[in-house]
Amino acid sequence: MFPATVYSDRRKKLRDEISGGLILFLGNQEVPFNYPANTYSFRQDSNFSYFFGLDHPDFAGIIDLDTSEDFIFGNDVDIDDIIWMGVQPGIGEQAARAGVSLTAPLDKLAETVKDALAGGRKIHFVPPYRGETILWLSDLLGIPHLELKASASETLIKAIIKLRMKKDAIEVAEIEKMVDVAWKMHTTGMKMAMPGVVEREIAGTIEGIALSNCGPVSFPVILSINGQTLHNHYHGNTLAEGRMLVIDAGCENDLHYSSDITRTVPVGGKFNARQKGIYEVVLNANLAATKAVKPGVPFREIHMLAATEIAKGLTNLGIMKGDPAEAALKGAHTLFFPHGLGHPLGLDVHDLEGLGENLIGYDDEVQRSKEFGLAFLRFGRKLQEGFVMTIEPGIYFIPELIDIWKAENKLAEFINYDIVDTYRDFGGIRIEDDVLVTADGYRVLGKPIPKTVEEIEALMC
Ligand code: GLY
Repeated sequence: MFPATVYSDRRKKLRDEISGGLILFLGNQEVPFNYPANTYSFRQDSNFSYFFGLDHPDFAGIIDLDTSEDFIFGNDVDIDDIIWMGVQPGIGEQAARAGVSLTAPLDKLAETVKDALAGGRKIHFVPPYRGETILWLSDLLGIPHLELKASASETLIKAIIKLRMKKDAIEVAEIEKMVDVAWKMHTTGMKMAMPGVVEREIAGTIEGIALSNCGPVSFPVILSINGQTLHNHYHGNTLAEGRMLVIDAGCENDLHYSSDITRTVPVGGKFNARQKGIYEVVLNANLAATKAVKPGVPFREIHMLAATEIAKGLTNLGIMKGDPAEAALKGAHTLFFPHGLGHPLGLDVHDLEGLGENLIGYDDEVQRSKEFGLAFLRFGRKLQEGFVMTIEPGIYFIPELIDIWKAENKLAEFINYDIVDTYRDFGGIRIEDDVLVTADGYRVLGKPIPKTVEEIEALMC
């Protein structure tokens, strides 16, 4: 945990943003995966973590906006817990680590909430995303579970977004440590990407690196020679010469700050001419987008810059045609780059997304597009100092999508479908870094992970 003052300061800042009533934060519970005593690894809720830091199940926190008191509800362990789990610090000691002096047993929570409701006090809460929390919150508040999301406090959500989006130095340092572990995961994965190796051997090894250096992976490892499937979690293919291997993986630490990095390498370590051609288009898009990062620039503009770079590069290779800027404006690049350029990163790998993608990524100035491709851009509004964003352009040859577009002759003035067809077996390439928005620009976080053709070949060969 950070020092207690970090959590008290965060709660004070939250209080300064909202007036009147209580803020209720439910921590996560243990979740069974096949029978009650066999649970998934415990993962604390990120908002609870941010404001209270405690990494244990079955806690709740209340911030009283009228009295400026904070409470933690939770139970001391009993002798049965000690027999199975060992001696644990008492609730008072744990709460003190979060700068909270007032504690109560968990069964007092319902009474506290009931009294507040009876007194006509507003209870602010965030939309729950886990079944257990939905039931718990529904019982506490007397709100049917299907109505909870709509009843969540927009004032609270906006205040949390304001605080959590801007990372301070101690948070950036934690994210950067996780990028450094990702360096080890990715360089190991690259060296293993040789013909005859089965994907799961690499996926298992890099997940082990995460576990043995920090916490778990920050999302299930995406690793495949079929990188044209954007989030490919199947790891049963055998690597073969001529294929590209996409590895999209990161990790999180015990405070839950995370990394999210993608590298794509040629199986065997040497790019052939076709692979090098496409790779350098993605690399140029990654570099151009990164260089454009600075406060005040709408992220959607940077996404469109990357899209134009991709259209330009593919035009140079004869895959696209016409004016690249016009092609990007009309969405022709989305046949090859159908997703968004990136997303915020922090305590969640898609930071804060549980609070509502549009509330995080869009505002009155920049509204979410409904167009194919741009609609998947999770974040479009202006960047601010302290934001940490992923920058992750890609080019994919998705045979099923190519077939649909070709049958419709869609945007044929920008696409050479005959040439596209020769790439149907190519797979995909994505290159992703974690980038901090600084006062006057950007900083790519962590130890540089090989990224140019030369750097990758030097590492692998
Ligand atoms: N890198 C995984 C994701 O952004 O969902």
